[in-house]
Amino acid sequence: MPEPKLLIASTNPGKVAEYRLLLEGLGMEIVGPEALEREIPPFAETGASFRENAAAKAGHWHAHSGLPVLADDSGLAVDSLDGAPGVYSARFAGPRATDQQNVARLLERLREVKKPSRGATFHCCLALCRSDDSLVFFEGICRGEILTLPAGTSGFGYDPVFYYPPLAKTFAQLSPAKKNQVSHRALALKAFRNWLASNQI
Ligand code: IMP
Repeated sequence: MPEPKLLIASTNPGKVAEYRLLLEGLGMEIVGPEALEREIPPFAETGASFRENAAAKAGHWHAHSGLPVLADDSGLAVDSLDGAPGVYSARFAGPRATDQQNVARLLERLREVKKPSRGATFHCCLALCRSDDSLVFFEGICRGEILTLPAGTSGFGYDPVFYYPPLAKTFAQLSPAKKNQVSHRALALKAFRNWLASNQI
């Protein structure tokens, strides 16, 4: 019997490839939009929470493909900014902001904030939209502190300023393999993998 297909709701081939690797050997064929016969209309992330965005994205992709879909939404919530940038993490410094611009904006907003108050949390919410339209959520969080200057060259987004105390390094100073063991995304995926042990997509 062919393996059931799981569609990753992303137009970024790198992200699809990463999920394919992380979900290897679990009895599913991981596919991206290139495997579909028609294009998925663009989806605007307008939700007020990671969960809302992931749910809406999974439902949208499922409605246009008929396949079970895994969608994610993630971002950084900074304690002293009341959870900002949150769902606006990718566009903190403007609609087409680069990672460097977003990091610069964050450091500027935290200029007067001293160390014990520089705590922050990375969030990742995965939403699975199953064949019967039902939704299941898997969440992962990772606590850290925002440095005053970037350190490290690996990763993306806010990684150079996100200091992770258990490993005494920023996420940008970790190898991709190490980050994939401890990150918010890794923890959400772990919850998904545990769920797959006794459920079907
Ligand atoms: P998305 O979930 O792919 O839309 O990511 C939203 C934004 O959150 C990214 O553009 C980054 O700015 C930030 N972000 C999410 N996960 C990470 C991470 O692991 N490292 C650094 N930044 C992240």
